[in-house]
Amino acid sequence: MRSKPQAATASAVAPAAQPAVKPTATFVVIGATSEIALATIRKWRASFSETAWRIHLMGRNDAALAQLAPEFDATWSHYDTQMSPEAQVAALPDGAIDVCLCAVGYLGPQAQAEHDPNEAQRITHDNYTGLLPVLDCVAARMAAAGHGQLLVVSSVAGERGRRSNYYYGAAKAALTAYLSGLRIRLLPYGVYVMTIKPGYVRTRMVAGRKLPPYITARPETIARDIVAAARRRQPVLYTMWAWRYIMALTRLIPERLFQHLRRF
Ligand SMILES: NC(=O)c1ccc[n+]([C@@H]2O[C@H](COP(=O)([O-])OP(=O)(O)OC[C@H]3O[C@@H](n4cnc5c(N)ncnc54)[C@H](OP(=O)(O)O)[C@@H]3O)[C@@H](O)[C@H]2O)c1
Repeated sequence: MRSKPQAATASAVAPAAQPAVKPTATFVVIGATSEIALATIRKWRASFSETAWRIHLMGRNDAALAQLAPEFDATWSHYDTQMSPEAQVAALPDGAIDVCLCAVGYLGPQAQAEHDPNEAQRITHDNYTGLLPVLDCVAARMAAAGHGQLLVVSSVAGERGRRSNYYYGAAKAALTAYLSGLRIRLLPYGVYVMTIKPGYVRTRMVAGRKLPPYITARPETIARDIVAAARRRQPVLYTMWAWRYIMALTRLIPERLFQHLRRF
């Protein structure tokens, strides 16, 4: 289901005293109900205000999308990783896609997944395999257009398997590896791919969990970092910045010692 595209608001013939009509560009957000995604759209629009952004929201909660759309003067469409590849591709808006942010993610109940293959598969699908049809299509369209920015939220959880969330972590590791290869493939086409690796972020995904305050960010902090990294064309973003060093150390811990760090 798609809402009517909004009519253009800028007048083609502006009076001489008015500022020039802004160039328009399309920003597609997959997983648009994510708190990180919403903070990023707001920050992006404010930071790149020289462009008139046509925003298109995609997600599985139609009522929430319809409620969010007016704030961004956005169109929206239904998207779920459980849809067929063809339906996923059809959910994308027609025309050029200049920027695409994907913030889909599903942490899932680790304990249940350990005994329930359907849940284990769901976590893998919603964080990785289920995203491939839509990400591949966006990548192909950007490559054909010779430009575009594909910004995808992965996680530091993909850097090393942990007792507490290894289905989620494994799926994010696969997503990170996919993005690494995709970035290299798309370089000659002028398409920029950013892998975003947040640490802990205070959103509903981790609601009710006790998180270490000094390394737990607000969605607005992640959004600020994403915009700054996009300006620099940074390929991989750790956010908050301390996570780059935390994960470097985590990767260095010998496996035999890592096995005993039960808190992980
Ligand atoms: N919060 C953290 O600590 C943290 C840390 C590292 C990485 N991340 C990543 O950051 C991204 C955004 O998460 P968030 O923290 O902003 O949490 P969030 O608010 O729960 O956002 C998750 C998003 O994924 C969507 N989603 C889940 N399953 C889906 C499916 N099957 N099909 C389509 N959409 C689906 C959700 O849609 P609904 O609204 O319909 O549920 C929501 O839009 C995710 O990729 C997450 O893995 C988060």
